[in-house]
Amino acid sequence: MPPNVLAFLNGHFLPRSAASVPVDDRGFVFGDGVYEVWRAVGGSLFESERHVARLHRGLDELRIPRPDVATPERLHEIARRLFTDSDLLDGDATFYVEITRGVAPRTHHFPKVAVSPTMYATVNRLTTAEDVRERGAECITLPDVRWLRCDIKSVQLLPNVLAKQAAEERHAIEAIMVRDGVVTEGSHTNVVGVMDGVLRTHQANHLILRGVTRDIVLDIARSLGMPVHEEAFGERDLHRLEELFLLGTTTDVMPVVRIDGAAVGDGTPGPIARRLHAELRARLDALRPADPPAVASISP
Ligand code: PDD
Repeated sequence: MPPNVLAFLNGHFLPRSAASVPVDDRGFVFGDGVYEVWRAVGGSLFESERHVARLHRGLDELRIPRPDVATPERLHEIARRLFTDSDLLDGDATFYVEITRGVAPRTHHFPKVAVSPTMYATVNRLTTAEDVRERGAECITLPDVRWLRCDIKSVQLLPNVLAKQAAEERHAIEAIMVRDGVVTEGSHTNVVGVMDGVLRTHQANHLILRGVTRDIVLDIARSLGMPVHEEAFGERDLHRLEELFLLGTTTDVMPVVRIDGAAVGDGTPGPIARRLHAELRARLDALRPADPPAVASISP
């Protein structure tokens, strides 16, 4: 952990190294909570409202009461303070928020007495993998063994963790998951394939997390006149894709050039992925505070 990174825990700001939760926290015991990851550039949150809306939806789905501080305004203030005091006001960074059902003796059912949710937030520097983006990424496929509520951004991420670890062990950057022959998503990314010139991605239902990056990039693609079908493609279509790419808050648009060792398309990053990444990056960079105007030199 970088030194001096600040955290927010249940209403207090403190050094992250000093932040801790009781062992009876239901997040620790059951994974009973939700989380959210925002992208920030120059200390400003990107598309913040979409992340807040997904966080609120997740809390509602799990029937966890919304903490008072989980409003868009308070979350902005918390993020700003964390970025400022952690010296992360320049460049790319992430803002992480986790909310659990709170601390209570272990029972599977919800606590019978009202408990306050636990709310934790912190920030991190983000280093994007530009070298991989330039040459294109390798991925593997794995069976999607997750539950049927993948639309909830729950902190229970064990299948995702095991999938990403399997990818690491095969020197791949992501595991693309397949359920009943259909490509769903990556361990921490959404997946888009280009087939016959059409962008295809799994429909936003209970089988995937509806990514903020997915929604933004699909909107960009439509605005550029690219045909988009939110309709899944099959594992057996992988060999005939013209392009394949990943989308996510910490991944941006990442072209995939090999899957399970076989080339995708011509085996190089394709023009659609490159164009969409450039458009997304331009929107991210627009968040950077403008340089102060140059001081005109006054001649004597
Ligand atoms: N993961 N699908 C899954 C399973 C994810 O965990 C994520 C994000 C995405 C992409 O969503 P978004 O574009 O909103 O980041 C898709 C985050 C970054 C994480 O777990 O760190």
